[in-house]
Amino acid sequence: MEKTFLMVKPDGVQRQLIGEIVARFERKGLQLIGAKLMTIPVETAEQHYGEHKGKPFFNDLVNFITSGPVFAMVWQGKDVIEISRQMIGKTNPKEALPGTIRGDYGAFLSKNVIHGSDSLQSAKREINLFFKEEELVAYDKLM
Ligand code: CMP
Repeated sequence: MEKTFLMVKPDGVQRQLIGEIVARFERKGLQLIGAKLMTIPVETAEQHYGEHKGKPFFNDLVNFITSGPVFAMVWQGKDVIEISRQMIGKTNPKEALPGTIRGDYGAFLSKNVIHGSDSLQSAKREINLFFKEEELVAYDKLM
């Protein structure tokens, strides 16, 4: 089953949006198989955002994502990466459509509430960066 890494960013946690965001993915029929509230170590944040290293906003990005707790999650389901990306909406909240998470709750490019893996390759990398295999659960096959 396809898996993805989703993370409520510090702005979303502080605005008490964890429940609202989790409810959206649950109602869609996706399965939560791992979750933790954590403050990301700077080194992990630099690895997570490795592709943005050298960009002018890199330091701000790392400072922001390590500034307070995040809610890191692993979800699974058929086509979960594409479906969750659609539900999250465009990176820039001003371009994200109403009905998407960023369209409904995001206000700034730098504080856009939630992160979602953008490909199978980044999902694998991000899940491995944040979760150990034993932190992920298996559901009963009848579900
Ligand atoms: P996300 O796609 O989750 O991960 C990379 C983040 O970098 C992105 O969300 C934005 O929050 C942020 N970002 C992307 N482009 C810019 C930019 N030009 N200025 C500031 N932040 C940016």
